Amino acid sequence: MAKLWGGRFEEGLDKKTEAFGASITFDQKMARQDLKGSLAHVTMLASTGILTAEEAEQIKAGIQKVEAKYEAGEIEFKIENEDIHMNMETYLHAEIGPVAGKLHTARSRNDQVATDMHLWMKDTLSETMDKLQNLREVIVTLASEHVETIMPGYTHLQHAQPISFGHHLMAYYSMLTRDFDRFAFNMKHADISPLGAAALAGTTFPIDRKETAALMGFSDVYVNSMDAVSDRDFILEFLSNASILMMHLSRFCEELILWCSNEFQFVTLSDAFSTGSSIMPQKKNPDMAELIRGKSGRVYGNLFGLLTVMKSLPLAYNKDLQEDKEGMFDTADTILTSLDVMAGMLSTLSVNESIMVESTEKDFSNATELADYLAAKGLPFRQAHEIVGEMVLECTKAGYYLQDVPLTRYQEVSTLIDSDIYETLKSRTAVQRRNSYGGTGFEQVKMQIDLAKDALNHS
Ligand code: ARG
Repeated sequence: MAKLWGGRFEEGLDKKTEAFGASITFDQKMARQDLKGSLAHVTMLASTGILTAEEAEQIKAGIQKVEAKYEAGEIEFKIENEDIHMNMETYLHAEIGPVAGKLHTARSRNDQVATDMHLWMKDTLSETMDKLQNLREVIVTLASEHVETIMPGYTHLQHAQPISFGHHLMAYYSMLTRDFDRFAFNMKHADISPLGAAALAGTTFPIDRKETAALMGFSDVYVNSMDAVSDRDFILEFLSNASILMMHLSRFCEELILWCSNEFQFVTLSDAFSTGSSIMPQKKNPDMAELIRGKSGRVYGNLFGLLTVMKSLPLAYNKDLQEDKEGMFDTADTILTSLDVMAGMLSTLSVNESIMVESTEKDFSNATELADYLAAKGLPFRQAHEIVGEMVLECTKAGYYLQDVPLTRYQEVSTLIDSDIYETLKSRTAVQRRNSYGGTGFEQVKMQIDLAKDALNHS
């Protein structure tokens, strides 16, 4: 069949080039959105009197038939029809004949593709937020089971101070809450209709852009037609929000990978989220966590890909913009699956509480407790720090820890030290007492969990 735009051409398109220029292999993901946009457009064309009611009814019935065929898997997309818009229009033509040609009145593929992408983005943002909400719930549930589970807190990957495992988990909850907020804000810029901008300059037909926007469920319309057809900020925002999300997940996964290593043994991943080795029979690998960590790379790549496409692009539509889709689809698939896998991995995780707490008993992560103890009794903190540093050195040389130092020795070092020091030096006590706002103290962790449960119930 001749091209829908074939009028001004004398020769056909070079066959190899045809596939190069086509987007149907990937933009078919927007089939439903394309049909929805066309339905809204034709409804408006009738209500404004641009088409007769009868013409519009024929076209609508045709679109519904194409839709039914699509849902039944009976539509075969063709490279020679280039993209989703012309594939659908060709099917419509086959259903209802020449009246199909009236659908494209006062419309261009430039505003059509932008409309499809806005619709697709709104659906994807909702799905992303649902999955993020689920993951946040899984984290809060796990954290509430581990408010009093003691583990080492790290700085520089060295034991720093003991913390609550629940507190550690709630740090990730906070990151994911910001991610959720970012995707919610992303919705504001996705929720604007470009339809009616036509090719770039609007149209001479008396269209009603607010009507089509309302029919498609958009809250607003673009006020500038050139911006409408060339804006891809809402996609860049999505790709950048997705990159930040993947960065967070990659940090969490990195910790899971460390924690299930032989050196840590803090957690055990369930079999459902682990894999074996084809040569080493003993292996149980955290592949899924590694993959999420690795997939953050492609998500960053998709962001940089589109930023680079958009750089220096003159107004208004340019075919370069066709390159906006594959990265967007790939990023959506990647984050949606990563969020599911992450939630599954965390909800089936076993926590080896005794190994976690033991690792805070064979270290000097209670050194701050001793310094704080002296400072609380009036010694300037800097002086207390110096004394404790010397004690740590003495213990290191002797091969034991601060809790093993006899009271007689402590009292030689400072008369401020009493027998209650041994309770103070326990990691559980250290965690329990850190009740400054937002600290790892049990009360504070419970407070965070309560706030989180409240927020989840209201979002
Ligand atoms: N497939 C095109 C894209 O994705 C649709 C818009 C084409 N418009 C045009 N004037 N060639 O960008």
